[in-house]
Amino acid sequence: MKLVAIVGSLRKDSYNRHLAATIQERNLDKFDLEILDLRVLPFYNQDEENNPPQSVVDFKRKVNEADGVIIITPEYNWSIPGVLKNALDWLSRVDKVLIGKPVMTAGAATGLMGTIRAQLHIRQILTAMQVKLFPPAGNEILINQASIKFDPESGRLTDEATVQFVDEVIDRFVQFVAE
Ligand SMILES: Cc1cc2nc3c(=O)[nH]c(=O)nc-3n(C[C@H](O)[C@H](O)[C@H](O)COP(=O)(O)O)c2cc1C
Repeated sequence: MKLVAIVGSLRKDSYNRHLAATIQERNLDKFDLEILDLRVLPFYNQDEENNPPQSVVDFKRKVNEADGVIIITPEYNWSIPGVLKNALDWLSRVDKVLIGKPVMTAGAATGLMGTIRAQLHIRQILTAMQVKLFPPAGNEILINQASIKFDPESGRLTDEATVQFVDEVIDRFVQFVAE
């Protein structure tokens, strides 16, 4: 199975990026997870959508070829980061590569709310984009107080109960993708 991760933070030591890497490393026997780079994407411009830059063509092709998508995002000002919305806007137009695609979301934040407001916003956006949304009930990866749940040395998610829950949710997502 081939999955891609879209991470809503460009920060080098991003907790959300480390969460993607943790999922990747713990599931090498189950799927190939490619973490896509949003840095290469220009701002969405409708004038360019029919003849987009090569970085957009490559990004859309990778999403299109994936069996499923894991969106892992921080919350910025009670919503999703602009870089993530920009990526979703590119994906939503012309060849609408997310229609019917299995998608799950997850997030990590330093505060207590664990990205819940961003998750609610992204679900609304993904509904407009007609994805096959992984049911959130029982599957909400909302990591709060990230600074004590990720290892300061390796950066990886190390809080045991959280790692176990993430493994369980990812297993259910794999089944959902395979259905
Ligand atoms: C511009 C900005 C806005 C933020 N707004 C929120 C917020 O609304 N809710 C929240 O829980 N954390 C907020 N934070 C804190 C993030 O949870 C924290 O910076 C987190 O580490 C970002 O994820 P990352 O480590 O993947 O970059 C904000 C951070 C930034 C830089």
